[in-house]
Amino acid sequence: MPSITTILVCLVVVQVGYGERYEPNWESLDSRPLPSWYDESKIGIFLHWGVFSVPSFGSAWLWYEWKTGVPKYVDFMAKNYRPDFTYADFAPDFTAELFDPNDWADIFKASGARYVVLTSKHHEGFTNWPSKYSFNWNSMDVGPKRDLVGELASAIRSRANIHYGLYHSLFEFFHPLYLQDKENNFTTRDFVTTKAIPELYELVYNYKPEVIWSDGDWEALDTYWNSTGFLAWLYNESPVKDVVVTNDRWGGNVQCKHGGFLSCSDRFNPGTLQKRKWENAMTIDRYAWEYRRDVTLADMLTMEELLTQVASTVSCGGNILINVGPTKDGRIVPIFEERLRSLGQWLNVNGAAIYGTSPWVYQNDTVTKHVWYTSKKNSQGSLDVFAILLQWPDHGKFYLGSPTPSQNTTVTLLGYDTPIKWTASAAHEQGITVLIPAIPFNKMPCNYAWVLKMQNLA
Ligand SMILES: *[C@@H]1O[C@H](CO)[C@@H](O)[C@H](O)[C@H]1NC(C)=O
Ligand SMILES: *[C@@H]1O[C@H](CO)[C@@H](O)[C@H](O)[C@H]1NC(C)=O
Ligand SMILES: *[C@@H]1O[C@H](CO)[C@@H](O)[C@H](O)[C@H]1NC(C)=O
Ligand SMILES: *[C@@H]1O[C@H](CO)[C@@H](O)[C@H](O)[C@H]1NC(C)=O
Repeated sequence: MPSITTILVCLVVVQVGYGERYEPNWESLDSRPLPSWYDESKIGIFLHWGVFSVPSFGSAWLWYEWKTGVPKYVDFMAKNYRPDFTYADFAPDFTAELFDPNDWADIFKASGARYVVLTSKHHEGFTNWPSKYSFNWNSMDVGPKRDLVGELASAIRSRANIHYGLYHSLFEFFHPLYLQDKENNFTTRDFVTTKAIPELYELVYNYKPEVIWSDGDWEALDTYWNSTGFLAWLYNESPVKDVVVTNDRWGGNVQCKHGGFLSCSDRFNPGTLQKRKWENAMTIDRYAWEYRRDVTLADMLTMEELLTQVASTVSCGGNILINVGPTKDGRIVPIFEERLRSLGQWLNVNGAAIYGTSPWVYQNDTVTKHVWYTSKKNSQGSLDVFAILLQWPDHGKFYLGSPTPSQNTTVTLLGYDTPIKWTASAAHEQGITVLIPAIPFNKMPCNYAWVLKMQNLA
């Protein structure tokens, strides 16, 4: 028989264990510190891949736009497909026969991204893994006949220093149970209990994602989705409880308020310092998330535009999740590959100004336009400040209004050996004039977004 003491000790242990647990309410869930890998990473790759990659036209919402009568999509379908064609008829052509997850992982690694987030299931409901809850509408039964989520997971995890996450849409455009719950003003929850939530558990148990990027929440409240119940399990008990991060799309009343990091609206980039960790989920094709055949070069962000997003996001405390859309046969097309590899080359020179940094006192310069700051403690314990210059200075003298130099201040240009001279009107007065040398073209450290590192500011 256990003694009274043993029983008491057990009770105390249970109490302490319980005290560390998160409760299924936002106050408790929001108090969980984000696992530090996420903030340090800064840069992720987002992938929108699914049956919508087959028509590969206009939008990943093609099915919805077509069925709700948007002329562009109604005309496209009428012109190119037989009259009784259904959206499900696209699925067999989602072939992925050229998909080599190791090629993808090589590109993502070379881009300098520290995490990858794949659409496990978009609003069309097609699961890119063999889900028990998606009969005949998954990538093992139809189309690729492969476990796309699992194959990419293995390839990414075989590389060092890059994390794997999954996007998951709660709602589905035309799922009968969802439409029925909606008809009932979400007073019934059949879709949630038999589809959306079981799928999330299946994803977590099978693939152990380190990001769960939820979406498709907005028509219903968090109480319909049981978001807090799922997240309490995820943070307390799941196999990823210590590493996983989540976003904020867990109910129409929750977005931009609660959850892990705040993703708010698509392409969220407020331009000012935010109180909570946030993420700018954006696309290299400025108009679409999926690969679309009707894309033009002008639709693609240039490297200058992409780095403007990177600099402004990181300076204001955000991470950036850069989206590319793979093709139905499983390729990352060269224009996306080129942007991603160029980003990686830029980060090879300038990564010190991005990875593991914190926002500085100032986000953009107070006087000179197109300059964004980040900062990081160096090994001597003082703060290095990085000024990311989105434009190369017109004149040899470049004025920055925010930093206050000391006698010991040094300025370097990342990727360039010779220290950069500077002057100030008086020591300990705010403002510094950096004397940009005439750098030979072939000694330029990069082609865009140059970084000045300032040490020992006052
Ligand atoms: C849903 O709400 C609408 C508007 O408030 C109401 O007219 C309708 O009767 C409700 N339906 C159900 C099934 O509760
Ligand atoms: C919500 O999720 C939790 C954790 O899985 C579960 O225990 C609870 O029964 C769920 N509640 C509802 C109403 O579905
Ligand atoms: C700095 O950013 C703020 C907020 O985005 C903007 O209002 C301001 O004009 C910017 N300053 C300069 C000098 O460009
Ligand atoms: C500058 O460096 C010298 C020598 O390391 C040190 O004694 C002095 O305190 C520093 N001055 C400032 C303003 O940091």
